[in-house]
Amino acid sequence: MSADDHQPRSAAAVDERPDLDAASLISVRGLRVHFETKRGRAHAVDGVDLDIRDGETIGLVGETGSGKSVTARSLLRLVPMPPGVLAGGSVLYRPKQVCGACSGSGCTACGQVGRRPIACRACDGAGCEACEHTGRHTVDLLRISDTELREIRGNRIAMIFQDPGKALNPALTIRQQIAEVFLEHRSGELLQAAGLEDGDRRAGRLMRRSAHQRVRGIERLMLKLPPWRGRQVKLSTAIDDAVIRALEDTRIPNPRKILTNYPHELSGGMKQRVMIAQALACDPDLLIADEPTTALDVTIQARILDLISELQQRRGTAVLYISHDLSLVKRVCDRVAVLYAGQIAEVSDVAELFRRPMHPYTRGLLAAVPSAEQQRGQLRAIRGTVPELVDPEPACRFHTRCDAAVPLCASREPVLWERGDGAAPHRVACFAHADPQVLGVDRRELPVLDEGSS
Ligand SMILES: Nc1ncnc2c1ncn2[C@@H]1O[C@H](COP(=O)(O)OP(=O)(O)OP(=O)(O)O)[C@@H](O)[C@H]1O
Ligand code: SF4
Ligand SMILES: [Mg+2]
Ligand SMILES: [Zn+2]
Ligand SMILES: [Zn+2]
Repeated sequence: MSADDHQPRSAAAVDERPDLDAASLISVRGLRVHFETKRGRAHAVDGVDLDIRDGETIGLVGETGSGKSVTARSLLRLVPMPPGVLAGGSVLYRPKQVCGACSGSGCTACGQVGRRPIACRACDGAGCEACEHTGRHTVDLLRISDTELREIRGNRIAMIFQDPGKALNPALTIRQQIAEVFLEHRSGELLQAAGLEDGDRRAGRLMRRSAHQRVRGIERLMLKLPPWRGRQVKLSTAIDDAVIRALEDTRIPNPRKILTNYPHELSGGMKQRVMIAQALACDPDLLIADEPTTALDVTIQARILDLISELQQRRGTAVLYISHDLSLVKRVCDRVAVLYAGQIAEVSDVAELFRRPMHPYTRGLLAAVPSAEQQRGQLRAIRGTVPELVDPEPACRFHTRCDAAVPLCASREPVLWERGDGAAPHRVACFAHADPQVLGVDRRELPVLDEGSS
C-alpha cells in the first residue's frame, strides 16, 4: 500500500491551519481514502486531520455514510484495497513500552499506568524533524511493513468492529479466537503462568503449534506422551485461565461453557462481548470502538462502558469511540470530532461542543437529539441528504443543506480554523468563522450564522 504525500484539504487558507497536537498518541494528517466505483471515484474520507491524545476518549460522530468506519479502519490498514485507494495522508503513531522503572506494575514515573512513551531514536528525546519535535519515537502506520503492523494490530491498537458477525472467524471456537491474541502477543506471560521457562525450546515450539492451530496426527499422538504431555496440559490450563478471565471481564455468564462454541452458536450480544474480550486482552494503547454497544441491551451496554473506562484508568488507554448516539458521547467522551461527508466539520472538548456548537451541521445534529424537556413535534431533522461523494467539486460539502450558505460556500472548500480560546481549543470548518483577509474576500461575502442556523 502506498500513499501520496500529505496534501492539505484546501490550498486556500492554509496559512491559518492550526498546528495539531503533535504530542498525541496518534496524529492523522490529511487522510484520504477513496473508492473506485462504476460512477467514478467516491471520496469517502477526504482530508481528515485528527489527533488522539494519550489516555483520552475521543468521540467520532456523524450521519450514516459520513466515513467514520472507513477512517477508523484506515488507522490499521483494514480497508480492502481495491476497491479502496489510499489517496494521501499519514497516520503517525507514537508507541509506548513497558515502564523500565516498575516493569509494568505502575509507579510515579509512568503515572501508575505501567507504560511510557519511547524516546525518538534520531534525537534521543531532545526533539528533531523526524519526531516533529515531540522527542517521541514516531511511526507512520500507513507506511510500515506488514510485519511491523501485525505487531501493533490487536496488541497495541485494538479494534471492536461495528459488526461482530463479520469480525469473528466462523471456523474457530471462542477459545481459539481469544487464545490467538494471547499466544501471539503475550507468550512470555503465558509460559510463566504455566510454570514453563521462556527459554525452553520445547515450550516455545508447543506455543507456536498452539498459536497456529496445527496440532494434528502424529503431533497430537506425541503430545500425549511425557514429557510433552505435562507441558501441553500446563500450557492449555494457562491459556484457558487467561481466556476465561478475559471473558469474565465482559460479564459473559458462565464463560467456561462457551469456550468450545463457534460464533454462529452465540447471540449478537454474546458475539459482541467475545470481540470486546479479544480487543481488551492485550491492554492496548488505543482501543478503537466502532459502535461497540449497538447490539447490546442497556444494562450490558453500561457494563461494557465501565469495562472500557476501567481499562483506561488501569493502563492509560486512549479510546476512539464511534457512535451515532450523541447523548452517549456526551457522557463518555473528553473530546468530540464531527465528521460530515468524509471531512471533519468541527472538533473540540465535549462540554464546549455541546455548550457552543459552531458548525451548522453540528447544530443540526444537536437539535435532532431528543431530550426530556422537548415537546412532541419539536425535534428538527436536518433537511436533505448527505451529498454525492463521487468526484466532488471544491465546495463546502454541507452547502446544499445549510440555511446560511452563500455563493462562496458553493465554490471553495473550508478548512479547519482554530476558533476556541486558550482554555478550550475548538476547531471548525465553516466560512462563517473564517478570516476574510486570509481568504482574500470581502467580509460581506462570508456567511453569517444566526443562533439556530443549520
Ligand atoms: N468496501 C467499500 N466499497 C465501496 N464503498 C465503500 C466501501 N466501504 C465504505 N464505502 C463507502 O464509504 C462511505 C463511508 O462509509 P463508512 O462505512 O465509513 O460510513 P459510516 O460513517 O461508518 O456509516 P455508519 O454510521 O452507517 O456505520 C460510504 O459512502 C460507503 O458507501
Ligand atoms: S455557512 Fe457555508 S461554509 Fe458554513 S456550513 Fe454552511 S455552507 Fe458550509
Ligand atoms: Mg460505520
Ligand atoms: Zn512505572
Ligand atoms: Zn526526534
